[in-house]
Amino acid sequence: ALITLRQLLDHAAEHGYGVPAFNINNMEQGLAIMEAARAVDAPVIMQASRGARSYANDIMLSKMIEALAAIYPEIPLCMHQDHGNDEATCMTAIRHGFTSVMMDGSLEADAKTPADYDYNVAITERVSRMAHWVGASVEGELGVLGSLETGESEAEDGHGAVGKLDHSQLLTDPDQAVDFVARTKVDALAIACGTSHGAYKFSRKPDGDILAMGVIEEIHRKLPDTHLVMHGSSSVPQELQDIINEFGGEMPQTFGVPVEEIVRGIKHGVRKVNIDTDCRMAMTGQFRKIAQQNAAEFDPRKFLKPAMDAMRDLCRERFEAFGTAGNA
Ligand code: G3H
Ligand code: 13P
Ligand code: NA
Ligand code: ZN
Repeated sequence: ALITLRQLLDHAAEHGYGVPAFNINNMEQGLAIMEAARAVDAPVIMQASRGARSYANDIMLSKMIEALAAIYPEIPLCMHQDHGNDEATCMTAIRHGFTSVMMDGSLEADAKTPADYDYNVAITERVSRMAHWVGASVEGELGVLGSLETGESEAEDGHGAVGKLDHSQLLTDPDQAVDFVARTKVDALAIACGTSHGAYKFSRKPDGDILAMGVIEEIHRKLPDTHLVMHGSSSVPQELQDIINEFGGEMPQTFGVPVEEIVRGIKHGVRKVNIDTDCRMAMTGQFRKIAQQNAAEFDPRKFLKPAMDAMRDLCRERFEAFGTAGNA
């Protein structure tokens, strides 16, 4: 059944687990997530970016997620707008049946210019008020995603830096977080702790300096009842880099957010963990492998089925590591 983000994360907080929020753009990704969820009895957050909505069409996406809820009736399913950039994006999502929206006011509506605090509070408060009128949940974001290693902040499409910021500008300020939640009444708060979107997060395995887990701990101490969200939380597993590169890919060596760091975050109030890149890499590894190992193959299903299975296995691992398993 479809449920809201608030319902799901309240349960997660009560029972001390985290929920991966996987991005979807198509049927195969939707089925992969639900198969994994069924296998381990986990509740699901499925999220669509603005890019996903224009790729797949709003009606196609929303009817597909409704279909998945019908096919897997035992799995609680939250249908979430990822990185809404303005009121219109969030309201049209809700109109199509999304039970939750992210109003990302950390950047201006062009998604490239870092927003000032007052802009973020005002637009997030407006969306929060409207969404709550109709029973949908809201995630806000405070702080700018970007690398503490390089100081590069990023546009929310993950493509290209919006500029150089110092550490304090990149990280969420805990006192400001308290004020932000009080004024916007968001159900969940995305915080910046040094992660960035995409595969190229860190040039070495991140330690305490480049991944500021202490910020999460401090925010959780000040806001013990607020559900925290970690974006840019793909782990970029070495095995997936290796499969892609073994079969003709050219991905430079890179490091993501170690699963054990996410698990630490979950102990300190992180309830929603956004993952897209890992799923993309799991699928693409299989596309490359089959294209190279069976060059005569031309049935798309022969590519998509193994890709779906690889994404299913990845999702299952995250459900198990985050404690989501067993909580459907
Ligand atoms: O926020 C970034 C997600 O990975 C979605 O990416 O905008 O390319 O669909 P996308
Ligand atoms: P990754 O690129 O690390 O998978 O992050 C996805 C994300 O934060 C979507 O909002
Ligand atoms: Na989101
Ligand atoms: Zn994100």
